[in-house]
Amino acid sequence: MLAGALVLVVGSLYPLVSGYPSFTIDYNRDCFLKDGQCFRYISGSIHYFRIPSAYWKDRLLKMYMTGLNAVQVYVPWNFHEPQPGVYNFRGDHDLEHFLNLTMELGLLVIMRPGPYICAEWDMGGLPAWLLHKKDIRLRASDPDYLNAVDSWLSVLLPKLRPRLYNNGGNIISVQVENEYGSFLACDYGYMRHLHTTFRLYLGDDVVLFTTDGSGDSYLKCGTLQDLYATVDFGPVGNATKAFEPMRRFQPRGPLVNSEYYTGWLDYWKEKHAVVSADRVSQGLEAILEIGANVNMYMFEGGTNFGFWSGADFSGVYKPITTSYDYDAPLTEAGDPTDKLLAIRSVIRKFQPVPEGPIPPPTQKYAYGLVALNKVGDLVDLLDILSPDNPIVTPYPVTFEDAKQYFGFMLYRTRLTGDVPDQTPVSSNVNGVHDRAYISVSGTFYGVLERDSLKNVNVTGKEGQWLDVLVENMGRINYGSDLKDFKGIIGNLTLGNDLLENWVVYPLNLDGPISQGWPHIMSDRVLKTSQTKNTTGPAIYSGTLSITDIGDTYLKLPKWSKGQVWINGFNLGRYWPVRGPQVTLYVPGTILSSSQVNNITVLELENAPDRPIAMFLDKPILNGTYVGK
Ligand SMILES: *[C@@H]1O[C@H](CO)[C@@H](O)[C@H](O)[C@H]1NC(C)=O
Ligand SMILES: *[C@@H]1O[C@H](CO)[C@@H](O)[C@H](O)[C@H]1NC(C)=O
Ligand SMILES: *[C@@H]1O[C@H](CO)[C@@H](O)[C@H](O)[C@H]1NC(C)=O
Ligand SMILES: *[C@@H]1O[C@H](CO)[C@@H](O)[C@H](O)[C@H]1NC(C)=O
Ligand SMILES: *[C@@H]1O[C@H](CO)[C@@H](O)[C@H](O)[C@H]1NC(C)=O
Ligand SMILES: *[C@@H]1O[C@H](CO)[C@@H](O)[C@H](O)[C@H]1NC(C)=O
Ligand SMILES: *[C@@H]1O[C@H](CO)[C@@H](O)[C@H](O)[C@H]1NC(C)=O
Repeated sequence: MLAGALVLVVGSLYPLVSGYPSFTIDYNRDCFLKDGQCFRYISGSIHYFRIPSAYWKDRLLKMYMTGLNAVQVYVPWNFHEPQPGVYNFRGDHDLEHFLNLTMELGLLVIMRPGPYICAEWDMGGLPAWLLHKKDIRLRASDPDYLNAVDSWLSVLLPKLRPRLYNNGGNIISVQVENEYGSFLACDYGYMRHLHTTFRLYLGDDVVLFTTDGSGDSYLKCGTLQDLYATVDFGPVGNATKAFEPMRRFQPRGPLVNSEYYTGWLDYWKEKHAVVSADRVSQGLEAILEIGANVNMYMFEGGTNFGFWSGADFSGVYKPITTSYDYDAPLTEAGDPTDKLLAIRSVIRKFQPVPEGPIPPPTQKYAYGLVALNKVGDLVDLLDILSPDNPIVTPYPVTFEDAKQYFGFMLYRTRLTGDVPDQTPVSSNVNGVHDRAYISVSGTFYGVLERDSLKNVNVTGKEGQWLDVLVENMGRINYGSDLKDFKGIIGNLTLGNDLLENWVVYPLNLDGPISQGWPHIMSDRVLKTSQTKNTTGPAIYSGTLSITDIGDTYLKLPKWSKGQVWINGFNLGRYWPVRGPQVTLYVPGTILSSSQVNNITVLELENAPDRPIAMFLDKPILNGTYVGK
């Protein structure tokens, strides 16, 4: 309501003044000019693709009430164009609905449409289908890459144009690419191509900008004439010093920190990242004191639901957790924290913050214990999970070859002779991306893991199936290793023998599970639940009945690693034996009080003898920590 009023003000103050609304840069006074006045934004990043759409408004209102006047929004290309030329802007993908809400709440928007975004998101937002061309050069002037980019931007950018501030909307600026200076290619031709394309669809007036790490080496390849150069850095004592590289490249204009880090991301097997409220609020004050513009990354991190989390690469592959809480001012569940209150107190020193309380946390429930039953071993469910003909191939194919971009594929080959002694199945070329669960004829032997576990011993008899279930843990989202093919990307050996003649099953778990399987087929559940063995990849299911709906956190005590769905919604990966994340965020928006809630678990290694799930009212993101 507050917000509606603000929008009206903008609409009614200036209609007779020519040239307004307008948003530009004043290089003499070193500020942005909004309708002719010096203007400074205090913004926060929010990723609509990491928050259920039913909660978008609640989160935006909390940001508005903190005193922010803008939000910064990435657009992940792969989230909206899952197959070439097939677009999804519905439901949780409804970007325009999200942007409408920002407008209704009186928030300005800083758009970051990529095409590459990083964001700790699979492949930095680039669609994996770009890898159909194996030697494609990503983020460079490769004609195939540029054609795909142009086709996507011809769909996305026209949606933004009427929403630009100068056209009566609330988008004040648009970023081109993302931290391009951190990418080795340093291809100015590519950046010029993007610049031309953005201008073509958005016009000559809009403020276009780039963002790079605050260092000369980054700005060197990341900046381009006519794109306003901004930087990113976390809490520092002396903000003037931190902005020096930006000033060297761009002597005049407003100072902008496009990513002021309020926390940090988590990797599996590493410690949960925590940055204190004091450090974040003091660093923010240092930036605001010198008159700079700032965007806080993240203001709410949210969740890497489904298979969307990315990975970093620093000598070794480092997959990112399901939670993207980020230790941000709003938690993964959108709840205000002390950090938010500290930030609000700082903002209040520089500009008025809206009167009234910050909206409260959403209701949380500890629904308690649920018993799960084994539905069956994964290899016995292939008629449901991979109904099409498998791929028959002498040597393994990748996920991308099979057009199975996410999740899992099962690679099977028959033993060509008896294997009486423990004999290693090996990936001598580190060719498993990213984990492979090895069984022979239903007996589970262990795991191959990228960069760490390269052998698993097996025994077996001639003619038995050797099953290699391969899990994609998320494509690398940053640096020069973006082309991260998944599956078995090099040959496997058994002892000294090359393994050949594979039958490959791409697995579509989301399809049947979102249609109600296995719960709608209880006869099948009963028939196979005799399988008592709890080792190796298998599906489990159970139901939860509740009377009150709210958010909750799912814990799978004594389980090892896997994927979990509730009512067909893919909550993401769990891996409590690695940590640090122990519970999964379950948004109340996917729960039902009128029907039983259906829980489906794919456990990959070992389930407990008595398989149970627990629903808690608090998250555990800093639990098991087995790393350095
Ligand atoms: C966004 O708002 C406009 C103007 O009110 C409306 O016409 C349009 O249908 C809305 N779009 C969505 C996706 O909500
Ligand atoms: C901050 O850094 C600037 C530029 O390096 C320097 O001139 C200034 O003295 C520093 N301020 C403080 C308080 O150290
Ligand atoms: C595999 O078995 C061999 C003996 O055949 C043994 O030397 C080796 O340590 C085993 N490797 C693993 C990874 O267990
Ligand atoms: C379950 O399978 C494991 C190996 O996959 C085997 O060692 C164990 O004996 C089996 N347990 C039962 C009860 O069949
Ligand atoms: C697997 O081995 C075959 C036979 O040596 C070879 O032709 C093929 O290129 C190998 N595949 C990979 C990915 O190395
Ligand atoms: C759970 O599955 C049952 C079928 O066993 C179905 O009737 C029910 O609607 C499902 N619950 C939800 C919330 O979809
Ligand atoms: C995890 O965080 C909670 C709440 O902040 C704290 O009480 C607990 O000590 C932390 N545990 C570890 C292992 O750091």
